[in-house]
Amino acid sequence: MGKKVIAVIGAGGFIGKAVSRELGKSHEVIGTSVHNPEGRFHCDITKKGSVKDFISGHKPDVVIHLAALTDVDLCERDKARARRIHVDGTRNLVDACKSLAPRFVYFSTDFVFDGRKGNYSEADATNPINNYGKTKLEGEKLAEALPGHLIVRTSTPYSLGPGSKKFLGILLEKLSRGEKATAFADFIRSPTLIENLAENVGALVSNGHSGVLHVTGDSQLSMYDAALQVADVFGFDPSLVQKTTSSSVSLGAPRPLDTGMNVSLARKLGLNIISFREGLLKVKKQARG
Ligand SMILES: NC(=O)c1ccc[n+]([C@@H]2O[C@H](COP(=O)([O-])OP(=O)(O)OC[C@H]3O[C@@H](n4cnc5c(N)ncnc54)[C@H](OP(=O)(O)O)[C@@H]3O)[C@@H](O)[C@H]2O)c1
Repeated sequence: MGKKVIAVIGAGGFIGKAVSRELGKSHEVIGTSVHNPEGRFHCDITKKGSVKDFISGHKPDVVIHLAALTDVDLCERDKARARRIHVDGTRNLVDACKSLAPRFVYFSTDFVFDGRKGNYSEADATNPINNYGKTKLEGEKLAEALPGHLIVRTSTPYSLGPGSKKFLGILLEKLSRGEKATAFADFIRSPTLIENLAENVGALVSNGHSGVLHVTGDSQLSMYDAALQVADVFGFDPSLVQKTTSSSVSLGAPRPLDTGMNVSLARKLGLNIISFREGLLKVKKQARG
């Protein structure tokens, strides 16, 4: 595969950093950011002109669109802002890409499902129950207008890399201080190691698969069971992990209960899909190294 010019939109985010690092090994990566410059190009996707100038100026072979408002509760409180980023922003990118026709990879989420079924495959009907999921799904529909589009749905990203203030980072911090940590027993998720996700995105950039694809880890487990596995792998006292359920707390936005993702298609395409335990062991090795 030849060296490509790859535009990573949202390169300063949690997944964007890992994707840029991985793809930068064999391609020219042009990363964008709004608040997190660090050598990246400024591109606010809500500004049509800014997006057009960026795409026509760099003429990327591939555009990976990771820009989003990932605070699910904020998306519920500020619906207009979520729409501006997920819907108007995606439309601006899609429009800017129409004549150039790069491979277009849109990052989406398990939250496009209502969480009543679980083990969701790409063929299952979507039915988001919060504004984050609804607007991300609208973004999917816009991305579908581009030939050669790929919609990567992922779930519950984890890593100890930069920006790891998601569940793993927070949990390990508490357990290492000997503090109790609560975890929802009624949220079933498919946690995804971001370095593994980035490797799989690298493989997808060059294969011609188009349409929707679930790219997650292959363990569908409750966040409580996930937290117990973390304690086990990292050698912390499992009794520090306390079971709770989502009905016992007030969340700003409703959350789907079971968004376990079926990754059979990703496996069939030859992607490297790993279990949660395998992912945790890799993180532990990295942390030691
Ligand atoms: N986090 C999750 O739990 C999760 C789960 C499933 C799927 N996803 C999807 O995966 C993708 C990446 O998520 P993430 O966790 O890496 O998100 P993140 O850490 O919150 O980063 C979001 C990125 O979007 C950029 N951004 C926000 N507003 C923008 C705008 N107006 N114009 C251009 N860029 C803008 C941010 O730029 P700055 O760096 O400049 O602020 C940041 O780089 C998203 O599409 C998300 O929906 C995430």
